[in-house]
Order: sequence, then C-alpha cells, then structure tokens
Amino acid sequence: MTRSISELIAQRHPDHALEQAFFNDPDVYAHDLEAIFYKEWQFIGLSCELEKPGSFLTHTIGAYKIVVVRGVDNEIRAFHNSCRHRGSVICKAAKGTTPKLVCPYHQWTYELDGSLLWAREMGDDFDPKQHGLKTIHTRTLEGMIYICLAETPPEFDSFAETARPYLAPHDLTNAKVAHETTIVENGNWKLVWQNNRECYHCGANHPALCRSFPDDPTVTKLEEDGAPTRVGLHFNRCEAAGLPSKFFLSESMQYRLARMPLKEGALSFTLSGQAASRRPLGNVSLADAGSLLKFHLPSTWNHFLPDHAIVFRITPLGPNQTEVTTKWLVHKDAVEGVDYALDDLTKVWLSTNDEDRRVVEDNQLGVNSPAYTPGPYSPTYEAAVMQFDDWYCTAVTAHLKAGQS
Ligand code: FES
Ligand SMILES: [Fe+2]
Repeated sequence: MTRSISELIAQRHPDHALEQAFFNDPDVYAHDLEAIFYKEWQFIGLSCELEKPGSFLTHTIGAYKIVVVRGVDNEIRAFHNSCRHRGSVICKAAKGTTPKLVCPYHQWTYELDGSLLWAREMGDDFDPKQHGLKTIHTRTLEGMIYICLAETPPEFDSFAETARPYLAPHDLTNAKVAHETTIVENGNWKLVWQNNRECYHCGANHPALCRSFPDDPTVTKLEEDGAPTRVGLHFNRCEAAGLPSKFFLSESMQYRLARMPLKEGALSFTLSGQAASRRPLGNVSLADAGSLLKFHLPSTWNHFLPDHAIVFRITPLGPNQTEVTTKWLVHKDAVEGVDYALDDLTKVWLSTNDEDRRVVEDNQLGVNSPAYTPGPYSPTYEAAVMQFDDWYCTAVTAHLKAGQS
C-alpha cells in the first residue's frame, strides 16, 4: 500500500466512493478486523435456535472461533472455542446439542457454563478452576444474540433500550428458523454493506423484491410542505396501534430502526404481496404494518413483518470474500405446508440475495481494475451509503488514534 490508511481517509471525498485499497488491500482488511470486527458488538444467532440446555452454535469471525451455548440455567453464554489444554477447537459442528463440551483431542470436559469438569492425569497441582473456557461478552436482546470479542466492549445499553420496544411486538423468542442459507459473495464486506444501504440498484436488479418493496428514496421524508408524507402517515398509524415505528438513526450511524410501509396493497415479501405465513409471528396488530427495518453495523440487517421475519448476518472471510447468512423466521408452532409454503416464504429473498451477490461481485471486479477511480454518490439515492462510509472511517480513525496513544 503506497498510502497509509490514515492518508487514504484524510484524502477521501465523503460524497464519492471509497478508494480501491479499502476494498482489496490485505493490510486494510487486517486493520478492519482489528478496528471493527474484533471490537464492536455483533449479531451471531437467535435464542430460539438454542432450544434447550446444551444447544449450541458455532461461528468464526476472522481468526476467532466462537461457540454459543445455552446452559442448564437457561443462560446463553459465548466462549472462545479453543481448548484450555493445547488449544484444539472443541465444537466443530455449526449447530448441535451436547450435555457437556468435550474436547475431541484429549477429552478435557467442560460444563455448559465453561468451567472445566474433568481432565485426565494432570497431576496433583492441577487446578481445574484455572482452566475454564475463556468467555466472550454476550447480550441477548429480544431473542437476538450479540457478542463482542473485545476485552472491554463498547456500550450496548443505549442500542438495547432503543431497539427493544421496536422488536418486542415481533416476539422472536417464540420463533423458529424455517429456512437458512449461507452464501459467499466474492466481494469486500464494505461493498456488501454499501449495496445494502441503497436502493439505487433495486429497480434494475430486484424484480421480485420490487413487487412489494418501494425503492423510492424519499420514503424517509416525514413531511412535504408541512403535510405528512405517506411514510409519515404510516408511522402515525402504526404508533397509534402500539407499534414503535418512527425512523431512528443513532448519532454514530451504527444502527437504524424504522417501520416502513410496503408498496400499496402488499403485506409481506412474497411474489403475491400476501402474507407468507397464516400464523403470525408476534403481536403486530396491523396486517399492513410493513417491515420494521433494522440494521446494526457491522454484522446485521433485518426485516420484521407481521407474519415472519428475516435476519441477515454478515461476516468477512477475506479482503474479497464475505459470508452472508440469512434466516427466515416464522412462529414456532407454524407448520410447513399448512401455515406456510417454504417456496412462497423464501422466494423473494433467495432471489434478492443472489442478485445482490452478483452486483457485489461485479462491483469488486471493476474496483480491482487499475483504472478504477471513485465516482460521485447520488445525493438522492445514496445518502445512506455516505453515512456508512462516515461510520466506517470514524471507527477506523478511532482505532488508529488509540494505537498511537
Ligand atoms: S487440546 Fe483439548 S484436551 Fe487436549
Ligand atoms: Fe439489493
């Protein structure tokens, strides 16, 4: 890299796309992991996936192996998935249920709360209390599990307090995963996010999504000439029905909540616009409440509808590779083939994900060209991309400064 990260940030035009190095330089990628993914709170999974004591899920973020497990006390905890003997990974399956966490190498055996229960022939001086699994900060918010790899995590409460009333009517603790996909997009994680933050590309690329999802960039405008816009009226109606809905963007721009209307007549993300599940998820009293849009950087964007919810988890795999996991949630008692048809439930976002994968990969290929020069953002359609860039550059700059002090 000929210019340092701080030089690249100092020289950027905030109303233009980022320089090439941000998307393909291994040093920038390594710094992104340190500055953001090893530091910020990240969505990892759902409490409904960990049905009973011993249910676990695993994940990898950068170099870190993580296991999240429900204890006998029903508490959900996360641990570094690395044995305190000689370091072997302990849980290898993506999900499962186990009475104890047993290392496959020499069978050191841990309780579900991470304490070491048993280790063979370790001598009289050995103290199992000193060799419990290393814990990872964990918070469960309305059924969504967040973890933070930092020793001292950033503050979580203001996000939790803001998001909780928006999420509560969706009752995710009583959901089940009806379908799950994991795709790898051959693009830098920031290209994945920038693409998510705008709908400038939607009309030409998302025919299925555009049946129900408005790509109008002015939908966040609350008033026009003093009169409420369609979205303003929608917020008022939803709030009057007891559904927190108003547009909320945190000061740091790390997270946003807003219950947005769908296209006129559409109730859900289906090709027909009708609800995908006859059995509602949660207690959303208006069938046309639209979609509660939530994102929390750098790991998740979500759609919460009256009948189902869709949660996304974004994980960087390398400078040019990003994993996107999508989970479709329905009420835990909804029966496939009776209350919902899987194809109807998943079709729109399976297509949309694949279309987004293609545009992100094309974006990466073009950005890799020596001829790439950052071009201007559309002030109408890409304001949220600029907000993403600002959040990113602020986070990276803060980390660089902390390293100097
Ligand atoms: S590395 Fe886990 S028991 Fe030896
Ligand atoms: Fe898209």
